[in-house]
Amino acid sequence: MKVAVFFLLLLPLCLAKPFHQKGLFDFMLEDEAGSGTTDTPETYPPLQGPVCPFRCQCHLRVVQCSDLGLDQVPKDLPPDTTLLDLQNNKITEIKDGDFKNLKDLHALILVNNKISKISPGAFAPLKKLERLYLSKNNLKELPENMPKSLQELRAHENEINKLRKAVFNGLSNMIVVELGTNPLKSSGVENGCFQGMKRLSYIRISDTNITTVPKGLPTSLTELHLDGNKINKVDADSLKGLTNLAKLGLSFNNIASLDNGSLANVPHLRELHLDHNELAKVPPGLGEHKYVQVVYLHNNKIAAVGPNDFCPPGYNTKKASYSGVSLFSNPVQYWEIQPSSFRCIYERSVIQLGNYK
Ligand SMILES: *[C@@H]1O[C@H](CO)[C@@H](O)[C@H](O)[C@H]1NC(C)=O
Ligand SMILES: *[C@@H]1O[C@H](CO)[C@@H](O)[C@H](O)[C@H]1NC(C)=O
Repeated sequence: MKVAVFFLLLLPLCLAKPFHQKGLFDFMLEDEAGSGTTDTPETYPPLQGPVCPFRCQCHLRVVQCSDLGLDQVPKDLPPDTTLLDLQNNKITEIKDGDFKNLKDLHALILVNNKISKISPGAFAPLKKLERLYLSKNNLKELPENMPKSLQELRAHENEINKLRKAVFNGLSNMIVVELGTNPLKSSGVENGCFQGMKRLSYIRISDTNITTVPKGLPTSLTELHLDGNKINKVDADSLKGLTNLAKLGLSFNNIASLDNGSLANVPHLRELHLDHNELAKVPPGLGEHKYVQVVYLHNNKIAAVGPNDFCPPGYNTKKASYSGVSLFSNPVQYWEIQPSSFRCIYERSVIQLGNYK
């Protein structure tokens, strides 16, 4: 109890004049142990109880410093912190040494600050960091030397215009990458930049200006979200090797066609979102596709639906896996579609046709 009260008094002082704490700690040690400890500032015994930065809240190794108007990372963060929340502040720069000693940090939340610079060594001490949230900042590039332990990186709503292979190299534990709403063009995405992330399961690069599906995506991918870009074509190689892909989001692009064979590259696809594009035909290969369940094709330029566009040739083929197909807001009128075009589709599936406006 005595110690706790002491810290409450001590903390504001520490922040104001960090170097004065030595003397105060010595004083405490003398008081507690009753021994005249000599002046050896580097060998303090482990601190008892939490030391929490001024105005932050610390509980169960979680340090909560959001919405405080901070313009830099607080000093002297408790070394056993596992989650550090610094969102909604005004931090402009992450410096080497800002996270020193935070060996146990698992999650670092820096969302909604004004960060435009991250020093190359800033994340080096974070040997256990798994989640890094950098969204809503002013970053022009992702930092190099992100910890190898990283599993989830979120950096949407920045000013990132380049994705370099060197940045992702060796991040072999990464599972989720979110990079949407950045001023990216395809020329800024280095070929194969995601290739080294052998566990990567989820990529989202939505609402940017890329014109092609990034090349060299890892086979481990199960979800690829590329909605709201300027992609105008999906060629036969675009999805090559993505044998685990289950969800593909390509809504709100300028896609006029999918090459023959592109859907054959993703044999385990379950959801295909191609609404709000320029498609003139149902994508080739859908009829033969084994697992696709949900297909969004509304708001395109599809003028006709052929008998084998959705179903394999022949009549005795049941393809119970479709659960939803949307075709409304296309030039094709629903009365122009032969009911037999959907002969393979499970009765309780939803087929949204509707009218073209
Ligand atoms: C894409 O390019 C347009 C035109 O150059 C620009 O106005 C827009 O802000 C860009 N989008 C992003 C997300 O940077
Ligand atoms: C795609 O396949 C269809 C039907 O098999 C064929 O008519 C068409 O010529 C092919 N297109 C290309 C570009 O290979």
